[in-house]
Amino acid sequence: MAIIEVSNLFLSDPLNDVLSLPIVSKNGQIIGSISRYQLMRIFFRPYGRELFGKRPVQSFMNSVPLVVDLEQSIEQAAQHVTQHITAPVTEDFIVCEHGRYHGIGRVIDLLQAMESRVRRHSQELSQAYSRLKASQGQLIQSEKMASLGQMVAGLAHEINTPLGYVRNNVELVGAALRSAGYALDILNRVASTTETPEPLAEACRHALTFEQDYGLEDTTGLLEDTLYGVQQISELVANLKTFSRLDQAKLAAISIADSLDSALMIARHLLKSRIEIIKEYGETPLVECSPSQINQVFLNLLTNAAQAIPGNGRIAVRTYVENAYVVASLQDTGVGMGPELIKRIFDPFFTTKDVGQGTGLGLSISYQIIKQHGGYIRVASKPGKGTRFAIGLPIPAAAANTSPTAVRHQGTSHG
Ligand SMILES: Nc1ncnc2c1ncn2[C@@H]1O[C@H](COP(=O)(O)OP(=O)(O)OP(=O)(O)O)[C@@H](O)[C@H]1O
Ligand SMILES: [Mg+2]
Repeated sequence: MAIIEVSNLFLSDPLNDVLSLPIVSKNGQIIGSISRYQLMRIFFRPYGRELFGKRPVQSFMNSVPLVVDLEQSIEQAAQHVTQHITAPVTEDFIVCEHGRYHGIGRVIDLLQAMESRVRRHSQELSQAYSRLKASQGQLIQSEKMASLGQMVAGLAHEINTPLGYVRNNVELVGAALRSAGYALDILNRVASTTETPEPLAEACRHALTFEQDYGLEDTTGLLEDTLYGVQQISELVANLKTFSRLDQAKLAAISIADSLDSALMIARHLLKSRIEIIKEYGETPLVECSPSQINQVFLNLLTNAAQAIPGNGRIAVRTYVENAYVVASLQDTGVGMGPELIKRIFDPFFTTKDVGQGTGLGLSISYQIIKQHGGYIRVASKPGKGTRFAIGLPIPAAAANTSPTAVRHQGTSHG
């Protein structure tokens, strides 16, 4: 084929965007290639077309063209092509099958295919990375919670034993005092009659000074207070036990208000007297959930709220029903957050707290837990004003039709 004919071929429609054409013998052997660039160099010479146009194409061809085997993968082909390519890129490559010509391949198509592959791989990699990060976070947190739970359960157990005999003894002493009071009454009567012989009257008066010195009623009152204190400690221990329940995966129907109260009790030391808790518990049906996990979510939110309040402040804790969800809302008067911060708070390990203070896992774990329960977690915040978190847990189908069963108590208290 003559140079002129090849140049016409390059101008023809289907070939007008290939860089080079293969030169193939009649039996399919690849002999070489001729590039558009090479033709241009010929035609740019003075009288190039007239002098060289009729010469056979072989006299100007590249006899070592870029050849890629059909069997090769895209990666292998790309590697081969990029190793042999020269700048500027003036040639496309030839595809062969079993050593025979098969077709033309454009370098640009190959590069684009490679690029989209790289993009997909990097996307897959970054997805895998975030999955890994999330599960690592979950692992650390559940480890932390499990050991905290074990510790709390152990403590509760240890407190329970002495608590048992303290209560028992107080009750026994109370009973003893009651019968002593009875005996004193009799003595009083005996001492006040004139028929009583003097030595006996003397003994009675002596016994009665005990009553005057200590006041039997006062002593009984003290014992009642002590019993009340013991009762409070028992409740606290019971709460600790509920909180640390290690049956993490077990589902139970619980009242959200009880769960909030349990978390409030645990967070008491954080709230101290500087934070006022305002409770507004509406009537809500029970929700089906893993109690220890939901307690954990509320404790995380309360901790965050307390940490966001620099001096004195308030946390309003509300429960209500909205659509098909039981909602628990925690609103603080803390430092608040801007939109840029809000975007990142659910990311594992994101924290604005000092090194060693926060792990940045609280919210990411809470988010996972609520998601697993089919619920939602929403946040609204204003810098300088405060933050409101709302947790929605789906109402079980059975409870949706029946009347609400739950606590309604309102009021304020200090932590
Ligand atoms: N109620 C809130 N008010 C203001 N900022 C908050 C509030 N709750 C969360 N944040 C912000 O979100 C970040 C992430 O919270 P998250 O609970 O995930 O981690 P953390 O509290 O920093 O650490 P950790 O909970 O592991 O101890 C916090 O560092 C804080 O900047
Ligand atoms: Mg936190």
